[in-house]
Amino acid sequence: MSELHQLKERIARRDYTVAVIGMGYVGLPLVLRFGEVGFRVLGFDIDPAKVKQLNDGVSYIEHVATDRVSRLIAGKRFEASTDVERLGEADAVIICVPTPLTAHREPDLQYVEKTTDAVAAVLRRGQLICLESTTYPGTTDEVVLPRLLAKGLRVGQDFFVAFSPEREDPGNRQYGTSTIPKVVGGVTPNCLELACTLYSQAVDRVVPVPSTKVAEATKILENVYRAVNIALVNELKIAFERMGIDVWDVIEAAKTKPFGFQAFYPGPGLGGHCIPIDPFYLTWKAREYGVATRFIELAGEINSSMPSHVVQKVMEALNARGKALKGARVLVLGAAYKRDTDDPRESPGLEILERLLAKEARAEYSDPHIRRLPIGRRHKLDLASVPLTEASLRSLDAAVLVTDHSAFPYDLIHRAVPLIVDTRNAFRSRGLQGAHVVPA
Ligand SMILES: NC(=O)c1ccc[n+]([C@@H]2O[C@H](COP(=O)([O-])OP(=O)(O)OC[C@H]3O[C@@H](n4cnc5c(N)ncnc54)[C@H](O)[C@@H]3O)[C@@H](O)[C@H]2O)c1
Repeated sequence: MSELHQLKERIARRDYTVAVIGMGYVGLPLVLRFGEVGFRVLGFDIDPAKVKQLNDGVSYIEHVATDRVSRLIAGKRFEASTDVERLGEADAVIICVPTPLTAHREPDLQYVEKTTDAVAAVLRRGQLICLESTTYPGTTDEVVLPRLLAKGLRVGQDFFVAFSPEREDPGNRQYGTSTIPKVVGGVTPNCLELACTLYSQAVDRVVPVPSTKVAEATKILENVYRAVNIALVNELKIAFERMGIDVWDVIEAAKTKPFGFQAFYPGPGLGGHCIPIDPFYLTWKAREYGVATRFIELAGEINSSMPSHVVQKVMEALNARGKALKGARVLVLGAAYKRDTDDPRESPGLEILERLLAKEARAEYSDPHIRRLPIGRRHKLDLASVPLTEASLRSLDAAVLVTDHSAFPYDLIHRAVPLIVDTRNAFRSRGLQGAHVVPA
Protein backbone atom coordinates (compact mmCIF):
# COMPACT_ATOMS: atom_id res chain seq x y z
CA MET A 1 0.00 0.00 0.00
CA SER A 2 1.41 3.46 -0.87
CA GLU A 3 2.27 5.87 1.93
CA LEU A 4 -0.43 8.28 0.70
CA HIS A 5 -3.02 5.52 0.83
CA GLN A 6 -1.96 4.55 4.36
CA LEU A 7 -2.23 8.17 5.52
CA LYS A 8 -5.72 8.45 4.03
CA GLU A 9 -6.74 5.27 5.84
CA ARG A 10 -5.41 6.61 9.11
CA ILE A 11 -7.41 9.82 8.56
CA ALA A 12 -10.56 7.74 7.97
CA ARG A 13 -9.88 5.69 11.16
CA ARG A 14 -9.13 8.88 13.15
CA ASP A 15 -5.75 7.38 14.01
CA TYR A 16 -4.33 10.80 13.16
CA THR A 17 -3.38 13.94 15.11
CA VAL A 18 -4.15 17.44 13.82
CA ALA A 19 -2.23 20.45 15.17
CA VAL A 20 -3.27 24.04 14.58
CA ILE A 21 -0.79 26.88 15.15
CA GLY A 22 -2.36 30.20 16.22
CA MET A 23 -5.36 29.89 18.56
CA GLY A 24 -7.08 33.05 17.31
CA TYR A 25 -10.39 33.85 15.63
CA VAL A 26 -9.51 31.42 12.83
CA GLY A 27 -7.43 28.71 14.52
CA LEU A 28 -9.58 28.10 17.59
CA PRO A 29 -12.86 27.24 15.78
CA LEU A 30 -10.88 25.08 13.34
CA VAL A 31 -9.06 23.04 15.99
CA LEU A 32 -12.36 22.52 17.84
CA ARG A 33 -14.06 21.32 14.67
CA PHE A 34 -11.34 18.72 13.98
CA GLY A 35 -11.62 17.61 17.62
CA GLU A 36 -15.39 17.35 17.38
CA VAL A 37 -15.22 15.06 14.35
CA GLY A 38 -13.02 12.65 16.28
CA PHE A 39 -9.39 13.62 15.76
CA ARG A 40 -6.88 14.08 18.56
CA VAL A 41 -6.07 17.79 18.32
CA LEU A 42 -3.27 20.04 19.55
CA GLY A 43 -3.49 23.84 19.61
CA PHE A 44 -0.31 25.92 19.64
CA ASP A 45 0.04 29.59 20.55
CA ILE A 46 2.85 31.85 21.74
CA ASP A 47 0.50 33.50 24.23
CA PRO A 48 0.73 31.48 27.48
CA ALA A 49 -2.43 33.13 28.87
CA LYS A 50 -4.53 31.82 25.95
CA VAL A 51 -2.97 28.37 26.26
CA LYS A 52 -3.71 28.23 30.00
CA GLN A 53 -7.30 29.35 29.51
CA LEU A 54 -7.88 26.72 26.83
CA ASN A 55 -6.34 23.97 28.98
CA ASP A 56 -8.67 25.14 31.78
CA GLY A 57 -11.53 24.45 29.37
CA VAL A 58 -12.44 28.09 28.74
CA SER A 59 -12.95 29.96 25.45
CA TYR A 60 -11.77 33.59 25.30
CA ILE A 61 -13.64 34.40 22.09
CA GLU A 62 -17.21 35.45 22.75
CA HIS A 63 -18.82 33.61 19.84
CA VAL A 64 -16.88 30.37 20.46
CA ALA A 65 -18.83 28.57 23.21
CA THR A 66 -16.81 27.57 26.25
CA ASP A 67 -18.50 24.17 26.47
CA ARG A 68 -17.01 23.27 23.07
CA VAL A 69 -13.56 23.74 24.61
CA SER A 70 -14.34 22.11 27.97
CA ARG A 71 -15.90 19.03 26.36
CA LEU A 72 -12.79 18.30 24.28
CA ILE A 73 -10.43 19.05 27.17
CA ALA A 74 -12.43 16.77 29.51
CA GLY A 75 -12.40 14.01 26.89
CA LYS A 76 -8.58 14.40 26.68
CA ARG A 77 -8.84 14.90 22.93
CA PHE A 78 -7.59 18.50 22.92
CA GLU A 79 -4.52 20.02 24.46
CA ALA A 80 -3.09 23.52 24.03
CA SER A 81 0.64 24.19 24.23
CA THR A 82 3.31 26.84 23.73
CA ASP A 83 5.96 24.19 23.15
CA VAL A 84 6.51 24.04 19.39
CA GLU A 85 8.80 21.02 19.72
CA ARG A 86 5.61 19.05 20.24
CA LEU A 87 4.62 19.80 16.63
CA GLY A 88 6.46 16.55 15.83
CA GLU A 89 3.54 14.67 17.48
CA ALA A 90 1.13 15.90 14.80
CA ASP A 91 0.38 14.20 11.48
CA ALA A 92 -1.05 17.43 10.04
CA VAL A 93 0.02 20.95 11.01
CA ILE A 94 -2.30 23.80 10.01
CA ILE A 95 -0.87 27.32 10.28
CA CYS A 96 -3.33 30.12 11.22
CA VAL A 97 -1.05 32.92 12.41
CA PRO A 98 -1.49 36.66 11.77
CA THR A 99 -0.43 38.24 8.46
CA PRO A 100 -0.47 42.00 9.19
CA LEU A 101 1.13 44.89 7.32
CA THR A 102 4.33 46.64 8.42
CA ALA A 103 4.37 50.36 9.26
CA HIS A 104 5.16 50.91 5.56
CA ARG A 105 2.07 48.91 4.53
CA GLU A 106 4.07 45.98 3.23
CA PRO A 107 3.37 42.29 4.02
CA ASP A 108 4.69 41.31 7.42
CA LEU A 109 5.30 37.58 7.08
CA GLN A 110 7.39 37.19 10.23
CA TYR A 111 4.72 35.06 11.97
CA VAL A 112 4.42 32.71 8.99
CA GLU A 113 8.21 32.49 8.71
CA LYS A 114 8.71 31.78 12.42
CA THR A 115 6.06 29.09 12.56
CA THR A 116 7.32 27.46 9.36
CA ASP A 117 10.83 27.37 10.84
CA ALA A 118 9.42 25.74 13.98
CA VAL A 119 7.65 23.13 11.83
CA ALA A 120 10.79 22.58 9.72
CA ALA A 121 12.78 21.84 12.89
CA VAL A 122 10.59 18.81 13.67
CA LEU A 123 9.42 17.86 10.16
CA ARG A 124 9.18 14.11 9.62
CA ARG A 125 7.95 11.67 6.96
CA GLY A 126 4.21 11.61 6.33
CA GLN A 127 3.42 15.06 7.74
CA LEU A 128 0.99 17.40 5.98
CA ILE A 129 1.67 21.12 6.41
CA CYS A 130 -1.12 23.47 5.42
CA LEU A 131 -1.03 27.27 5.51
CA GLU A 132 -4.36 29.08 6.06
CA SER A 133 -3.23 32.65 6.81
CA THR A 134 -4.31 35.12 4.14
CA THR A 135 -1.35 36.16 2.00
CA TYR A 136 -0.17 37.06 -1.52
CA PRO A 137 -0.07 34.44 -4.30
CA GLY A 138 3.25 32.65 -4.19
CA THR A 139 3.78 32.58 -0.40
CA THR A 140 3.46 28.79 -0.05
CA ASP A 141 5.89 28.13 -2.92
CA GLU A 142 8.35 30.91 -2.17
CA VAL A 143 8.31 31.32 1.62
CA VAL A 144 6.96 28.12 3.20
CA LEU A 145 8.19 25.35 0.90
CA PRO A 146 11.92 26.27 0.74
CA ARG A 147 12.13 26.29 4.55
CA LEU A 148 10.59 22.83 4.74
CA LEU A 149 12.67 21.41 1.88
CA ALA A 150 15.84 22.33 3.77
CA LYS A 151 15.23 19.17 5.80
CA GLY A 152 16.07 17.03 2.74
CA LEU A 153 12.65 15.32 2.47
CA ARG A 154 10.79 15.22 -0.89
CA VAL A 155 7.54 17.16 -1.13
CA GLY A 156 4.60 15.12 -2.44
CA GLN A 157 6.30 11.85 -1.48
CA ASP A 158 7.85 12.16 1.98
CA PHE A 159 5.79 15.09 3.21
CA PHE A 160 2.91 17.18 1.87
CA VAL A 161 2.24 20.92 1.61
CA ALA A 162 -1.01 22.76 0.82
CA PHE A 163 -2.68 26.16 1.10
CA SER A 164 -6.31 26.53 2.12
CA PRO A 165 -7.61 30.06 2.71
CA GLU A 166 -9.58 30.69 5.85
CA ARG A 167 -13.08 32.07 5.30
CA GLU A 168 -14.19 32.49 8.89
CA ASP A 169 -16.96 35.05 9.33
CA PRO A 170 -17.12 35.72 13.08
CA GLY A 171 -20.63 36.17 14.38
CA ASN A 172 -22.29 34.69 11.25
CA ARG A 173 -25.06 32.42 12.55
CA GLN A 174 -25.87 30.98 9.12
CA TYR A 175 -22.41 29.74 8.12
CA GLY A 176 -19.69 28.27 10.35
CA THR A 177 -16.46 26.29 9.99
CA SER A 178 -18.21 23.12 8.76
CA THR A 179 -20.62 24.73 6.29
CA ILE A 180 -18.32 27.25 4.57
CA PRO A 181 -16.86 25.53 1.47
CA LYS A 182 -13.08 25.12 1.75
CA VAL A 183 -10.82 25.93 -1.20
CA VAL A 184 -7.65 23.79 -1.23
CA GLY A 185 -4.53 23.99 -3.42
CA GLY A 186 -1.62 21.53 -3.15
CA VAL A 187 2.04 21.85 -4.12
CA THR A 188 1.75 18.46 -5.91
CA PRO A 189 -1.26 16.24 -6.81
CA ASN A 190 -0.49 14.01 -3.77
CA CYS A 191 -0.41 17.08 -1.51
CA LEU A 192 -3.80 18.15 -2.87
CA GLU A 193 -5.29 14.69 -2.43
CA LEU A 194 -4.15 14.33 1.18
CA ALA A 195 -5.20 17.87 2.16
CA CYS A 196 -8.65 17.42 0.54
CA THR A 197 -9.08 14.08 2.33
CA LEU A 198 -8.31 15.69 5.68
CA TYR A 199 -10.49 18.79 5.25
CA SER A 200 -13.43 16.78 3.91
CA GLN A 201 -13.67 15.10 7.34
CA ALA A 202 -14.40 18.46 8.95
CA VAL A 203 -16.20 20.54 6.30
CA ASP A 204 -19.17 19.71 4.09
CA ARG A 205 -17.64 20.84 0.81
CA VAL A 206 -14.01 20.94 -0.30
CA VAL A 207 -13.14 22.78 -3.51
CA PRO A 208 -9.84 21.57 -5.01
CA VAL A 209 -8.05 24.13 -7.18
CA PRO A 210 -5.08 23.67 -9.57
CA SER A 211 -2.33 25.17 -7.36
CA THR A 212 -1.50 26.84 -4.05
CA LYS A 213 -1.21 30.13 -5.97
CA VAL A 214 -4.81 29.83 -7.20
CA ALA A 215 -5.94 29.11 -3.63
CA GLU A 216 -4.01 32.13 -2.32
CA ALA A 217 -5.34 34.37 -5.10
CA THR A 218 -8.94 33.20 -4.46
CA LYS A 219 -8.88 34.62 -0.94
CA ILE A 220 -7.38 37.88 -2.19
CA LEU A 221 -10.08 38.17 -4.88
CA GLU A 222 -12.80 37.66 -2.26
CA ASN A 223 -11.42 40.41 -0.05
CA VAL A 224 -10.60 42.85 -2.85
CA TYR A 225 -14.15 42.37 -4.14
CA ARG A 226 -15.53 43.45 -0.76
CA ALA A 227 -13.11 46.35 -0.33
CA VAL A 228 -13.88 47.77 -3.80
CA ASN A 229 -17.66 47.40 -3.50
CA ILE A 230 -17.73 48.94 -0.03
CA ALA A 231 -15.63 51.86 -1.34
CA LEU A 232 -18.09 52.27 -4.21
CA VAL A 233 -21.11 52.64 -1.91
CA ASN A 234 -19.12 54.89 0.43
CA GLU A 235 -18.35 57.18 -2.49
CA LEU A 236 -21.95 57.09 -3.74
CA LYS A 237 -23.17 57.87 -0.21
CA ILE A 238 -21.34 61.20 -0.30
CA ALA A 239 -22.39 62.01 -3.88
CA PHE A 240 -26.06 61.11 -3.27
CA GLU A 241 -26.13 63.00 0.02
CA ARG A 242 -25.23 66.23 -1.78
CA MET A 243 -28.16 65.54 -4.14
CA GLY A 244 -30.54 65.01 -1.23
CA ILE A 245 -30.81 61.27 -1.90
CA ASP A 246 -30.42 58.69 0.85
CA VAL A 247 -28.05 55.93 -0.33
CA TRP A 248 -29.80 53.38 1.93
CA ASP A 249 -33.09 53.93 0.07
CA VAL A 250 -31.25 53.45 -3.22
CA ILE A 251 -29.57 50.21 -2.12
CA GLU A 252 -32.86 48.78 -0.81
CA ALA A 253 -34.48 49.47 -4.18
CA ALA A 254 -31.52 48.15 -6.24
CA LYS A 255 -31.51 44.98 -4.15
CA THR A 256 -34.85 43.96 -5.61
CA LYS A 257 -33.10 43.22 -8.93
CA PRO A 258 -32.92 39.42 -8.93
CA PHE A 259 -29.69 39.19 -10.95
CA GLY A 260 -26.48 41.15 -11.53
CA PHE A 261 -26.55 43.14 -8.29
CA GLN A 262 -25.30 42.36 -4.80
CA ALA A 263 -25.94 44.81 -1.99
CA PHE A 264 -23.00 46.33 -0.13
CA TYR A 265 -23.52 48.95 2.54
CA PRO A 266 -21.70 52.17 3.40
CA GLY A 267 -20.19 52.61 6.83
CA PRO A 268 -17.68 54.43 9.03
CA GLY A 269 -14.69 52.76 7.31
CA LEU A 270 -13.27 49.26 7.03
CA GLY A 271 -12.29 47.15 9.99
CA GLY A 272 -11.11 43.71 10.98
CA HIS A 273 -8.07 41.69 10.19
CA CYS A 274 -8.90 41.03 6.53
CA ILE A 275 -10.45 43.61 4.28
CA PRO A 276 -8.37 46.68 5.23
CA ILE A 277 -5.15 44.63 5.01
CA ASP A 278 -5.19 41.70 2.59
CA PRO A 279 -5.67 43.63 -0.67
CA PHE A 280 -2.35 45.37 0.01
CA TYR A 281 -0.59 42.01 0.06
CA LEU A 282 -1.52 41.74 -3.60
CA THR A 283 -0.56 45.35 -4.34
CA TRP A 284 2.92 44.64 -2.96
CA LYS A 285 3.32 41.42 -4.96
CA ALA A 286 1.94 42.96 -8.17
CA ARG A 287 4.68 45.61 -8.02
CA GLU A 288 7.24 42.83 -8.48
CA TYR A 289 5.54 42.16 -11.85
CA GLY A 290 5.36 45.84 -12.79
CA VAL A 291 1.57 45.94 -12.36
CA ALA A 292 -0.28 48.72 -10.54
CA THR A 293 -3.45 47.57 -8.69
CA ARG A 294 -5.34 50.83 -9.10
CA PHE A 295 -8.75 49.59 -7.96
CA ILE A 296 -7.24 48.42 -4.67
CA GLU A 297 -5.41 51.70 -4.07
CA LEU A 298 -8.48 53.78 -4.87
CA ALA A 299 -10.74 51.66 -2.68
CA GLY A 300 -8.20 51.95 0.16
CA GLU A 301 -8.12 55.73 -0.25
CA ILE A 302 -11.91 56.10 -0.15
CA ASN A 303 -12.49 53.63 2.68
CA SER A 304 -9.73 55.05 4.85
CA SER A 305 -11.15 58.56 4.50
CA MET A 306 -14.47 57.48 6.08
CA PRO A 307 -13.55 57.97 9.77
CA SER A 308 -12.58 61.58 9.07
CA HIS A 309 -15.85 62.03 7.11
CA VAL A 310 -17.76 60.82 10.18
CA VAL A 311 -15.91 63.21 12.51
CA GLN A 312 -16.60 66.05 10.07
CA LYS A 313 -20.29 65.13 10.21
CA VAL A 314 -20.27 65.23 14.02
CA MET A 315 -18.57 68.62 13.91
CA GLU A 316 -21.08 70.04 11.39
CA ALA A 317 -24.10 68.66 13.24
CA LEU A 318 -22.88 70.15 16.53
CA ASN A 319 -22.12 73.43 14.77
CA ALA A 320 -25.67 73.53 13.38
CA ARG A 321 -26.83 73.36 17.02
CA GLY A 322 -24.50 76.19 18.06
CA LYS A 323 -21.94 73.90 19.67
CA ALA A 324 -18.24 73.30 19.16
CA LEU A 325 -16.69 69.84 19.01
CA LYS A 326 -13.97 71.05 21.38
CA GLY A 327 -15.20 70.27 24.87
CA ALA A 328 -18.33 68.46 23.62
CA ARG A 329 -19.31 65.21 25.32
CA VAL A 330 -19.39 62.66 22.51
CA LEU A 331 -20.04 58.95 22.95
CA VAL A 332 -18.87 56.48 20.31
CA LEU A 333 -21.27 53.54 20.21
CA GLY A 334 -19.31 50.42 19.23
CA ALA A 335 -15.59 49.67 19.27
CA ALA A 336 -15.79 46.29 17.52
CA TYR A 337 -15.35 46.46 13.75
CA LYS A 338 -18.39 44.30 13.20
CA ARG A 339 -21.87 43.88 14.64
CA ASP A 340 -22.22 41.47 17.58
CA THR A 341 -18.52 40.56 17.75
CA ASP A 342 -15.82 41.37 20.31
CA ASP A 343 -13.04 42.05 17.78
CA PRO A 344 -11.68 45.64 17.80
CA ARG A 345 -8.84 45.07 15.31
CA GLU A 346 -8.51 47.90 12.79
CA SER A 347 -11.92 49.12 13.90
CA PRO A 348 -12.92 52.52 12.49
CA GLY A 349 -14.47 53.24 15.92
CA LEU A 350 -10.97 53.48 17.38
CA GLU A 351 -9.83 55.93 14.74
CA ILE A 352 -12.99 58.01 15.20
CA LEU A 353 -12.34 58.06 18.97
CA GLU A 354 -8.75 59.17 18.42
CA ARG A 355 -9.79 61.89 15.98
CA LEU A 356 -12.46 63.17 18.39
CA LEU A 357 -9.96 63.24 21.26
CA ALA A 358 -7.39 65.01 19.05
CA LYS A 359 -9.99 67.74 18.51
CA GLU A 360 -10.40 67.95 22.29
CA ALA A 361 -13.87 66.48 22.43
CA ARG A 362 -14.61 64.70 25.72
CA ALA A 363 -15.00 61.42 23.86
CA GLU A 364 -15.75 58.02 25.39
CA TYR A 365 -17.03 54.75 24.02
CA SER A 366 -19.56 52.10 24.89
CA ASP A 367 -19.49 48.54 23.60
CA PRO A 368 -21.31 45.64 25.30
CA HIS A 369 -18.75 43.21 23.83
CA ILE A 370 -15.52 45.08 24.64
CA ARG A 371 -15.19 46.14 28.28
CA ARG A 372 -11.74 47.70 27.89
CA LEU A 373 -9.84 48.61 24.74
CA PRO A 374 -6.76 46.48 24.21
CA ILE A 375 -3.55 48.33 23.38
CA GLY A 376 -3.14 47.49 19.69
CA ARG A 377 -0.49 47.98 17.05
CA ARG A 378 -1.99 51.24 15.80
CA HIS A 379 -4.21 52.51 18.58
CA LYS A 380 -3.11 53.13 22.14
CA LEU A 381 -6.36 54.23 23.78
CA ASP A 382 -6.56 53.46 27.47
CA LEU A 383 -10.34 53.52 27.80
CA ALA A 384 -13.08 51.37 29.34
CA SER A 385 -16.62 51.00 28.01
CA VAL A 386 -19.11 53.29 29.77
CA PRO A 387 -22.52 51.93 30.80
CA LEU A 388 -25.60 53.30 29.03
CA THR A 389 -28.09 54.81 31.45
CA GLU A 390 -30.82 57.35 30.81
CA ALA A 391 -28.93 59.93 32.91
CA SER A 392 -25.55 59.37 31.24
CA LEU A 393 -27.10 59.52 27.77
CA ARG A 394 -28.97 62.73 28.59
CA SER A 395 -25.70 64.39 29.64
CA LEU A 396 -24.15 63.86 26.18
CA ASP A 397 -23.87 66.41 23.40
CA ALA A 398 -23.79 63.71 20.75
CA ALA A 399 -23.52 59.97 20.13
CA VAL A 400 -21.94 58.40 17.06
CA LEU A 401 -23.24 54.96 16.13
CA VAL A 402 -20.25 53.12 14.65
CA THR A 403 -21.14 49.45 15.22
CA ASP A 404 -24.78 48.38 15.02
CA HIS A 405 -24.67 45.78 17.82
CA SER A 406 -28.05 44.15 18.45
CA ALA A 407 -27.59 44.67 22.20
CA PHE A 408 -27.66 48.49 22.11
CA PRO A 409 -30.85 49.98 23.65
CA TYR A 410 -31.79 51.88 20.48
CA ASP A 411 -35.11 53.22 21.84
CA LEU A 412 -33.45 54.61 24.96
CA ILE A 413 -30.57 56.17 23.00
CA HIS A 414 -33.03 57.70 20.54
CA ARG A 415 -35.10 59.15 23.37
CA ALA A 416 -32.27 60.45 25.56
CA VAL A 417 -29.42 61.66 23.31
CA PRO A 418 -29.89 65.13 21.83
CA LEU A 419 -27.87 64.38 18.65
CA ILE A 420 -27.20 60.99 17.03
CA VAL A 421 -24.81 60.62 14.11
CA ASP A 422 -25.66 57.25 12.57
CA THR A 423 -23.13 55.59 10.25
CA ARG A 424 -25.13 52.35 9.83
CA ASN A 425 -28.71 53.45 9.25
CA ALA A 426 -29.40 51.59 12.49
CA PHE A 427 -31.95 54.04 13.87
CA ARG A 428 -33.96 54.69 10.73
CA SER A 429 -34.11 50.96 9.93
CA ARG A 430 -35.75 50.51 13.35
CA GLY A 431 -38.25 53.24 12.64
CA LEU A 432 -36.43 55.67 14.97
CA GLN A 433 -36.24 58.97 13.13
CA GLY A 434 -36.25 62.69 13.88
CA ALA A 435 -34.28 65.85 13.25
CA HIS A 436 -31.74 64.79 15.90
CA VAL A 437 -30.75 61.65 13.91
CA VAL A 438 -28.17 62.58 11.29
CA PRO A 439 -26.82 60.06 8.76
CA ALA A 440 -23.06 59.95 8.18
N1 LIG B 1 -10.51 36.78 11.81
C1 LIG B 1 -11.06 36.51 10.65
O1 LIG B 1 -12.26 36.70 10.47
C2 LIG B 1 -10.26 35.97 9.46
C3 LIG B 1 -10.97 35.53 8.35
C4 LIG B 1 -10.29 35.00 7.27
C5 LIG B 1 -8.90 34.95 7.31
N2 LIG B 1 -8.20 35.39 8.38
C6 LIG B 1 -6.75 35.24 8.33
O2 LIG B 1 -6.35 34.20 9.21
C7 LIG B 1 -5.09 34.51 9.81
C8 LIG B 1 -5.23 34.50 11.33
O3 LIG B 1 -6.16 35.50 11.71
P1 LIG B 1 -6.88 35.52 13.12
O4 LIG B 1 -8.01 36.45 12.99
O5 LIG B 1 -7.13 34.14 13.61
O6 LIG B 1 -5.71 36.17 14.01
P2 LIG B 1 -5.62 36.21 15.62
O7 LIG B 1 -4.73 37.34 15.95
O8 LIG B 1 -6.99 36.13 16.21
O9 LIG B 1 -4.91 34.86 15.97
C9 LIG B 1 -3.60 34.56 15.67
C10 LIG B 1 -3.01 33.81 16.86
O10 LIG B 1 -1.70 33.40 16.49
C11 LIG B 1 -0.87 33.49 17.61
N3 LIG B 1 0.51 33.51 17.15
C12 LIG B 1 1.21 34.54 16.61
N4 LIG B 1 2.46 34.12 16.31
C13 LIG B 1 2.53 32.82 16.66
C14 LIG B 1 3.57 31.84 16.61
N5 LIG B 1 4.78 32.16 16.12
N6 LIG B 1 3.31 30.61 17.07
C15 LIG B 1 2.10 30.30 17.57
N7 LIG B 1 1.07 31.18 17.64
C16 LIG B 1 1.30 32.43 17.20
C17 LIG B 1 -1.34 34.75 18.31
O11 LIG B 1 -0.98 34.77 19.67
C18 LIG B 1 -2.86 34.64 18.10
O12 LIG B 1 -3.49 33.96 19.18
C19 LIG B 1 -4.69 35.86 9.22
O13 LIG B 1 -3.87 35.63 8.11
C20 LIG B 1 -5.99 36.46 8.79
O14 LIG B 1 -5.82 37.38 7.73
C21 LIG B 1 -8.87 35.89 9.47
